Amino acid sequence: MNTKAAWSFIAATVIGCVANGMAADNLKFNNGALTNHVRWLDTAGNLINAHDGGIIFADGKYHWYGLELRPKSVKEGGQKTTTGVVIYASTNLYDWTYEGVILECSTDPKSPLYGPMRFERPKIIYNERTKKYVLWCHYVQRPGDHTQVMGGGEAGIASCSTVNGKYTFHGTVRPVDDRGIVRDSTLYQDDDGSAYFIYDRDIRIPGPDFGRVLHIVKLSDDYLKPTTNYFKIDTAAGREAPVMIKRNGYYFLITSGLTGWNFNPAKYFRAENIFGPYTDMGDPCVGESTDTTFNSQGTHAFPVQGKPGEFIFICERHNQACMTDSSFIFLPVLFPSATTLQLRYLPEWKWESWPKGN
Ligand code: GAL
Repeated sequence: MNTKAAWSFIAATVIGCVANGMAADNLKFNNGALTNHVRWLDTAGNLINAHDGGIIFADGKYHWYGLELRPKSVKEGGQKTTTGVVIYASTNLYDWTYEGVILECSTDPKSPLYGPMRFERPKIIYNERTKKYVLWCHYVQRPGDHTQVMGGGEAGIASCSTVNGKYTFHGTVRPVDDRGIVRDSTLYQDDDGSAYFIYDRDIRIPGPDFGRVLHIVKLSDDYLKPTTNYFKIDTAAGREAPVMIKRNGYYFLITSGLTGWNFNPAKYFRAENIFGPYTDMGDPCVGESTDTTFNSQGTHAFPVQGKPGEFIFICERHNQACMTDSSFIFLPVLFPSATTLQLRYLPEWKWESWPKGN
């Protein structure tokens, strides 16, 4: 056992992580039973600790990035990070090799990345024009509470010339206006190269737009700034954890409800234009434990290379007793018709033999 593995074993033993965990088999997606927290290990035998991020295909490999969380309960600040965003690489989606930290927290109290801090749901897209990988996240800063005051709930922006290099942090912004606190967010890149920041805009000041509603904001051509071009998805009020995919000309936006780390039913929306209107399509989950999104919450969806129209939806079974033991659930996105989408729980499966139908 190397030092990192030993450390994670000790941490698990001492603070009671891995209550009902088991090691994942690396030749398939092993989601486990609906109540399991399957531990997914990297090729060095260490726990994959890349939460609420996503998967991007670059340089002939899939890259899985996310936040390195701490082996602590939510009460003890387990949802904060002292490390930042880390990345792993794989050619088959099952064996993941750790590649390092790409957006690093700082020990300097003056740094905007002074850890332990909270930033959430980092997402990366590639800009063909500038040849840069661009990362946006939901930035909550230290100590990690959403406030109306700037700094407590903004969009954080970073970029890098390589997918797995050291990203430069460019600062934070509140798209649309400074009244709207930025909460859960994602990035979406359209077929024409335009890109969008999708976020839960939270207005706590009584007056116009009071409350929480998902918004879609077009980004500048270099993807580093929001433009003033945006759409408020009125039908998606009180929704978060947005995940966007496009298939056959339809935009599908999968979301969760607002119950923090507690599970709730997912809901998806469909539109023919990125700026709506979005139709409420209800819960995409079918089968067991659908009222809790299979005891998980959506994180990201990515296309399978060489399989047009096939997407994998990642959700996470957050473990409030030990955030590093939040487990990853990989599910195929099913399309029972050209205009509808479904998610069905599979304890294990392989992307090479795609489950058919609904
Ligand atoms: C969730 C949200 C997470 C995080 C959490 C904090 O609902 O999706 O990103 O903000 O609440 O309680």
